[in-house]
Amino acid sequence: MKIFIKNSKEIKKIYKSCQLAAEVLEMIKTYIVPGISTEEINNICHNYITKTQKAKSAILGYKGFPKSVCISINDVVCHGIPNKNEILKNGDIVNIDITVLYDNYYGDTSKMFLVGKNISKKLKLLCLTAKKSLYKAINILKPGIRLYKIGQVIQKYVESKNFSVVRNYCGHGIGRNFHEEPQILHYKSYDYGIILQKGMIFTIEPMINIGHHSVYVTNDHWTVKTIDKTYSAQYEHTVLITNNGNKILTLRRGEKKYI
Ligand code: MF3
Ligand code: CO
Ligand code: CO
Repeated sequence: MKIFIKNSKEIKKIYKSCQLAAEVLEMIKTYIVPGISTEEINNICHNYITKTQKAKSAILGYKGFPKSVCISINDVVCHGIPNKNEILKNGDIVNIDITVLYDNYYGDTSKMFLVGKNISKKLKLLCLTAKKSLYKAINILKPGIRLYKIGQVIQKYVESKNFSVVRNYCGHGIGRNFHEEPQILHYKSYDYGIILQKGMIFTIEPMINIGHHSVYVTNDHWTVKTIDKTYSAQYEHTVLITNNGNKILTLRRGEKKYI
């Protein structure tokens, strides 16, 4: 398998898709309040992507996924399926994951939303640690860096806060395909010898748990939960390796970068 190096024409298109995905997260934030169902959130995102952006959700129908966005609450790690009977409540932590397809290229991003005003200190720290671990990794990205360093940086930071890194899911190259080479592990593993080069585009999307890193897929065949029922948080950006560093293609308007 091959890691595709993107040219400037492709980078422009991927950036466009990434910005569309980022704008969905920006648009949806005022709707994330106690009482709304995850199905309603899904429908608002779906209409925005298809009608306003004239784009497509890459998630709808992907390997049979039945909805347009993934919504993962509390002990759901990822791939939560929006449902009319699932209602957000005060104190919930929610990940919304958006992948947009526009003009044949993909953009992928997710973030946590804190519902209401009753979020415990511990859960705030969990979400902040997930976000900061993503930024710690982004901040090392430049040509010449070894790919496995990404996981090393994330794991070291997350474990220093006494949280754990989920092993079963990883980031991925992205472009003309939703998921392509290379896999981006969020924990330290073997150095496969891959070295970052200008023009690479991939996601980093660490999932971190309060308790043990083990997860399982529930009987709907999609929803991934923690084994020990502790809560989980995830942030995802699509990033480009540039001449002398990197660019966050899914950066939102008004998002504060951690440097
Ligand atoms: N957007 C997810 C990712 O970050 C993938 C969702 S797969 C789906 O790679 F099938 F659940 F849509
Ligand atoms: Co992704
Ligand atoms: Co995603």
